[in-house]
Amino acid sequence: MLRNRRDAFGWGTIALHWTIALLIVGLIVLGYVMTRPNIDPELQFSLYQWHKSFGMTALALALIRLVWWLASIHPVPVAGMTLLERRGSAMAHGLLLALTVVVPFAGWAVASTSTLGIPTLLFNRVLVPHLPMDRSAAAESFWTEAHALLAYGLAGLVAVHAAAALYHHFRRHDEVLTRMLGIFRRQVTSNAHQQPQGHDK
Ligand code: HEM
Ligand code: HEM
Repeated sequence: MLRNRRDAFGWGTIALHWTIALLIVGLIVLGYVMTRPNIDPELQFSLYQWHKSFGMTALALALIRLVWWLASIHPVPVAGMTLLERRGSAMAHGLLLALTVVVPFAGWAVASTSTLGIPTLLFNRVLVPHLPMDRSAAAESFWTEAHALLAYGLAGLVAVHAAAALYHHFRRHDEVLTRMLGIFRRQVTSNAHQQPQGHDK
């Protein structure tokens, strides 16, 4: 099942969710490492190019996900969640969706306003045009700050989001995490196989 149903996430949503999650966690670690002082300049240059390439990939997938999300039906919240929890999770998901688009755009703005004018070559192959912005030290420094702040803000939100998912799985024992892993439907099917036997006995 590619598309979401009222009671389950489809493979489209699941594949986009985990691919983007993996990319973003990797980009945060890479971004932190490559901006440390005293790093070898040649290695640093190469890490910056990888960061920009994977960052643009994350942006493309986040835009696809946004369209996919707008065009999809959304599974109902799992049973047992209070109104406050439902509102909190909807807000957190909205913010995650927005930040996955805004953070890479801010990164693109850093590359576009940089006075160094280094081109962004996607995986050393495809030239990504710079955003139509003026190059200046002030603009570069503003976007560098904004990109870092937003990226670490996103990291904090992801940590809370992941902790909430693990809390649901290990403490509440509900299907919040398993349905995002695509296991939910299999459990329902195997239960369905087991139930008639139970009734026979
Ligand atoms: C960068 C990392 C991540 C981002 C940007 C992100 C973003 C999102 C978004 C936007 C949704 C809502 C999906 C929708 O309604 O279509 C969602 C759902 C979900 N995410 Fe993440 N996520 C990330 C990482 C993680 C991690 C690490 C975990 C688990 C350890 C996780 C577990 C879940 C679960 C279980 C749901 C389903 C919640 C529900 O049923 O309401 N996510 N995530
Ligand atoms: C979701 C995608 C992205 C994430 C999570 C991310 C995350 C980060 C992080 C955590 C840093 C380190 C900030 C610091 O400690 O100062 C960083 C730096 C940087 N990022 Fe990204 N980034 C993303 C996308 C992009 C994109 C698409 C570009 C450009 C095309 C980009 C360009 C840069 C640059 C040039 C720096 C270094 C700024 C400086 O010199 O201090 N990033 N990024």
